[in-house]
Amino acid sequence: MSLLRVENLSIQFGGVRAIQDLDFTIDPGTVHSIIGPNGAGKTTLFNLITGVYRPTTGAIYLDDQPVTGRRPNELARMGMSRTFQNLQIMMNMTALENVMVGRHLHLNRNLLACLLRLPAITRGDRTARKRCIELMERVGLGGYINAEAGAMPYGALKRLEIARALAAEPTLLLLDEPAAGLNARETKEIDEVIVAVARAGVTVVLVEHDMKLVMGISDHILVLDYGRKLAEGTPEEVRNNPAVIAAYLGNV
Ligand SMILES: Nc1ncnc2c1ncn2[C@@H]1O[C@H](COP(=O)(O)OP(=O)(O)OP(=O)(O)O)[C@@H](O)[C@H]1O
Ligand SMILES: [Mg+2]
Repeated sequence: MSLLRVENLSIQFGGVRAIQDLDFTIDPGTVHSIIGPNGAGKTTLFNLITGVYRPTTGAIYLDDQPVTGRRPNELARMGMSRTFQNLQIMMNMTALENVMVGRHLHLNRNLLACLLRLPAITRGDRTARKRCIELMERVGLGGYINAEAGAMPYGALKRLEIARALAAEPTLLLLDEPAAGLNARETKEIDEVIVAVARAGVTVVLVEHDMKLVMGISDHILVLDYGRKLAEGTPEEVRNNPAVIAAYLGNV
């Protein structure tokens, strides 16, 4: 059974058909990459999957349940979590506080219980804090726990976004260009983080322009071009697909 299934999905913005008649499935426990030239519709597809946009036509199923039109917070509760192409970090908060924000789904936020500072709340906060520190260590940010986000280097902020997304304990993690703007060493660190996350059992959907990274860690690749599926398959199959080579990959 697939974890995510997309059927006949389309969205149109005025005259722009950003996604057209798209069908694909994502198996649990895999790293599934979505690649394509700028403007191919990759971020739009993430926005459709995570409920930010409602499709013009088509359907999305999570664990065989129809989820088309559900709101982002509902989908987050069902196990979807994501990072953003443009960093969505709160720069006036500490790194740990940013990760804690990703945890809010799992916190008991009954107002009265909070006001009374019931022991369960304090205990919950302590457990959440511990888990968030663990996640920061897992993405290599153990040295930044109490750092002001605004003072952190860009490469660390990209990993902070992943830690925050993981704080929601997702089953499906969508990463929109996690290596964009990173140097070779930082890209390798991100590569290791993604592999470790996948090994821990989280299904990863990766949008990325760095072909070396994509080819190295993906189980399956979907190639988009002008909102349509151009090809899909294993890295080997995609690399050797004449349509892909002709469209833009060149000599990967
Ligand atoms: N909210 C919107 N309103 C109008 N047009 C949009 C909107 N979102 C995306 N588009 C258009 O949809 C197309 C796909 O954009 P999208 O951002 O999904 O591409 P992408 O594959 O993520 O590109 P990149 O690699 O540059 O991030 C583009 O033509 C874009 O201008
Ligand atoms: Mg994009």
